Amino acid sequence: MHQINDFKQRSDLDIALADKVAGMLLDAITLKGKASLAVSGGSTPKGFFTELSKKDLPWRDITVTLADERWVSIDSDASNTRLVHENLLQNNAVNAKFFHLKQGDSLTSETLADLNLAAQSALLPLDVLILGMGEDGHTASLFPCSEQIDEALALSTAPLLKVVPKTAPNDRITFSFAYLKQSKNTFLHISGESKKAVLNKALAATNIKEMPIRAFLQDPEINTNVYWAE
Ligand code: 6PG
Repeated sequence: MHQINDFKQRSDLDIALADKVAGMLLDAITLKGKASLAVSGGSTPKGFFTELSKKDLPWRDITVTLADERWVSIDSDASNTRLVHENLLQNNAVNAKFFHLKQGDSLTSETLADLNLAAQSALLPLDVLILGMGEDGHTASLFPCSEQIDEALALSTAPLLKVVPKTAPNDRITFSFAYLKQSKNTFLHISGESKKAVLNKALAATNIKEMPIRAFLQDPEINTNVYWAE
């Protein structure tokens, strides 16, 4: 299931989402002494990252990671790790821990196995998940065009897997739906009229392989908070 929160200004959305997420992270730390947050890359979240980075939180108790990553150098313009370090892990948030999905040069089965073990103990289940969405209805790196989409959407799979999208550059590493759906709090952060149209298309049908974002919008066990601004 889902609920939609509309905002006139993207800056208002960024502030409201940062307030909401900060409160949830603080609740998790109060409850268990730590919190985990997975964010998405792309162009949408920069303003939100900046607002969240300014929050007065016990950032040393917070582990930040990515819902997915392009398998590129972290110095690359395409790197979500670079995007998060330059926009979120600044200001107060500079003291947060970061769980790197891009580790080593090759995304081998051994690397995946090591990352899966580490993610299980350091991060999962996530306290807060921020998803983005592409024009094709992909989210994280759950791409409808990839040959891995069945595995990525399966409920019995590993936390992390390699995806090779046909309509986007770079091999990817992504958390699977099975593990993303276990997040305590899930947000979908989108902006602009075209993304609103993609959302409406996603809500108008149920085939999750056609538009993987549907898996989050229609699952009765997930309350996906959609934050949209013009
Ligand atoms: C990525 C993201 C991806 C992103 C969407 C939306 O690595 O690209 O994780 O899922 O959230 O593609 O990207 P924009 O915000 O740039 O539209």
